[in-house]
Amino acid sequence: MDKLIIRGGTPLQGEIRISGAKNAVLPILSGALLADSPVVISNVPHLNDVTTTMELLGRMGVNLVIDEKLNIEIDSNTIQSFRAPYELVKTMRASILVLGPLLARFGKADVSLPGGCAIGTRPVDLHIKGLQAMGANIVVEDGYIKASAKRLHGARIIMETVTVTGTENLLMAATLADGQTVIENAAREPEVTDLVNFLIKMGANINGVGTDTLVIEGKEKLDGTRYRVLPDRIETGTYLVAGAITAGHVKLKDTDAKLLDSVLQKLRDAGADITTGEDWIELNMHGRRPQAVDVKTAPYPAFPTDMQAQFTALNAIANGAGSVTETVFENRFMHVQEMQRMGARVRVEGRTAYSQGIPRLTGAQVMATDLRASASLILAGLAADGETIVDRIYHIDRGYEAIEEKLRQLGASIQRKPN
Ligand code: UD1
Repeated sequence: MDKLIIRGGTPLQGEIRISGAKNAVLPILSGALLADSPVVISNVPHLNDVTTTMELLGRMGVNLVIDEKLNIEIDSNTIQSFRAPYELVKTMRASILVLGPLLARFGKADVSLPGGCAIGTRPVDLHIKGLQAMGANIVVEDGYIKASAKRLHGARIIMETVTVTGTENLLMAATLADGQTVIENAAREPEVTDLVNFLIKMGANINGVGTDTLVIEGKEKLDGTRYRVLPDRIETGTYLVAGAITAGHVKLKDTDAKLLDSVLQKLRDAGADITTGEDWIELNMHGRRPQAVDVKTAPYPAFPTDMQAQFTALNAIANGAGSVTETVFENRFMHVQEMQRMGARVRVEGRTAYSQGIPRLTGAQVMATDLRASASLILAGLAADGETIVDRIYHIDRGYEAIEEKLRQLGASIQRKPN
């Protein structure tokens, strides 16, 4: 397993390009199963989760072609199997996103249950309940969700909890169901909206775009289309924190500031000077150490859970006392123990990580436990004296395209070493 070796202390400076959003491309690739003719997706990030999704679709018999610009063409008319096996689902929970499309278009799906996960139990009961309300027969047997339906029908579904992939699964299923589906308390994350826009381009009839009530009139069929994935707001936020934590000055291109209001607000509170244009964001600390901030995660448009580990790192070296409260997942502070090994004065009480910032962390060997935790340890390493070795970085490759190249472009000293 590869490691990253970071020599901290350099204020990051320069420009980089932001990739397409992981959490948008995954549902969009699954959504391509709904179309009667080929779909072409562009701005696809080069990530292990994308490779896993392609392998999953490929094993089902779906025809995938990648062109020289890394656009992916997907033709699902050659499909032969409707199964998402455990060995793929266990590496990527988002495999569950094939459940709704397979069931709606082909009337059958066998999808392995995702099982446990480093950031909590993460059940999929709301995906199953919603599909049952639309007429699906579902049994959970031998660790698999075994679903079938002649044709799904519309239903009024009130989501008990705001769930991103749950909303996406039901939304995709509803586009080919018979009649009207209303999803209330739907997730409003920009990646859900990107999926909605993609489905509309395929001919789906969806109202309430960007709100918590989605109204879908089912169609007999959807057509192929071309679609460009939106920029990754979490990748954007991570590099902004990299700029802030090193008292640097960075400019991020091919991104969209409108997707990051809550994160930009907290960075401004931390003392960052932020300017934005139509497709870029610039952060300048003017050489200052950040101020500690208080953040609390919640569904969009509030502060994203996928940014809290990075802000825990920021608070660790900030001026003053700060806190990070996690309300979306029950166990998402695995990075705190690793940061403590780097000298951070952070303690977790219930769902909050309280910190007292110190000017510099100390390099250490640390271990990544999930995707965003890995990112936060790299950020901590950038602000540490000496060498930080981040182990188990396969998590990072799931969700950050070429992270060490991008950081090097900003002047960081970071290298990948095979074990
Ligand atoms: C998605 C994102 C992930 C992000 C998360 C929250 C993708 C591929 N992943 O994950 O990066 O951290 O949203 O923004 O888009 N829940 C249930 N029952 C269900 C489903 C969810 O109780 O059937 C609960 C979860 O345990 C959690 C909360 O709902 O407490 C939110 O989870 P959810 O939005 O579903 O996360 P994901 O869609 O898995």
